[in-house]
Amino acid sequence: MTTEVRTASPADDIAEILLDAPTIATRVAELGREITAEYAGKDPVFVSILKGALPFLADLMRQVPIAVSLDFLEVSSYGDSTETSGVVRILKDLAHPVEGRHVLVVEDILDTGFTLRYVLGHLRDQKPASVRLCTLLDKPARRIVPIQIDHKGFEIPDRFVVGYGLDYGERYRNLPFIGVLKPEVYGRR
Ligand code: PRP
Repeated sequence: MTTEVRTASPADDIAEILLDAPTIATRVAELGREITAEYAGKDPVFVSILKGALPFLADLMRQVPIAVSLDFLEVSSYGDSTETSGVVRILKDLAHPVEGRHVLVVEDILDTGFTLRYVLGHLRDQKPASVRLCTLLDKPARRIVPIQIDHKGFEIPDRFVVGYGLDYGERYRNLPFIGVLKPEVYGRR
């Protein structure tokens, strides 16, 4: 019989904080102001990509004091790995058609670009009035597919990050900051 040993707090597994909670909050408020100015009177739909973008969406939408609606896609290409498989799967599709709507895709991180290439194509197939992208994090060193970003929170270095929605093996999403795991955490799985 094997016994799984876990640390008391996910925060104990963090080697370094890249973006602390106040830094994230300040930038999210700035993005909220940009998006408010852009979408006032347009009745946009924010399409968020589960699960990683959830905390970002929750904080961002509360900084956008205009009428918006929400919808969700769930896609996955990473599984439990730190490397993308490149094959994007839809796990959950939109609840409502976006034909004729102004769509803002709200994403947590743009890495290789495989996920967003697929998602943006999927949305454009439905003939929305517009599709734009807001991503909290951009890791340009890893880009394989060029993707235009309309609203960007932070550019980050080529390191595997967790927290504020981002996971490793489905853990660490609930950390209020974005950080890098201690190397020994990878050996544990
Ligand atoms: C992560 C992240 C982005 C995608 C970015 O999702 O949330 O959607 O990878 O990577 P890419 O640019 O290389 O495609 P993941 O598949 O891990 O699902 P999750 O949001 O449920 O964690």
